[in-house]
Amino acid sequence: MSERRKFIKGSLAAAAVVAAGSASSALAMPKSCPKSCPTANPSLTGIIYSKANPGKWEKKVGGHAPQVTVADGKVTVLTNHGMSEKHYIVRHTLVLTDGTVAGEKTFSPSDEKAESVFDLPADYKGRIIATSFCNLHDFWVTPAQV
Ligand SMILES: [Fe+2]
Repeated sequence: MSERRKFIKGSLAAAAVVAAGSASSALAMPKSCPKSCPTANPSLTGIIYSKANPGKWEKKVGGHAPQVTVADGKVTVLTNHGMSEKHYIVRHTLVLTDGTVAGEKTFSPSDEKAESVFDLPADYKGRIIATSFCNLHDFWVTPAQV
């Protein structure tokens, strides 16, 4: 298994743990967390980044934190990031509260943009977490409520 695949697999497992709630407080931090603010779960520091917790990628939030739009039972995930051979968004996933991966999409550097659309289970209500992985700037999540 390539190192990249191992990292992605590990990142998905971490996202599932977060979605399942055992580390949910890591994503429930205030929108502005001062640099001195410890993450609620230190084991995720430097592994999972978010708008609220950009860590070392503080200047990369706009192009890496996935944007989530929910409408008509569908979730659109957009990472506003360029796509090139050297630098691109590798993958999106959508994870439900119980850790179920509701959808996943792997991108190619030649894709025009990093956008994916996933169907929610019928009548789903609860928390969702969109993930986005940049080949240079790590693993990002955006939680949302449906
Ligand atoms: Fe990037």
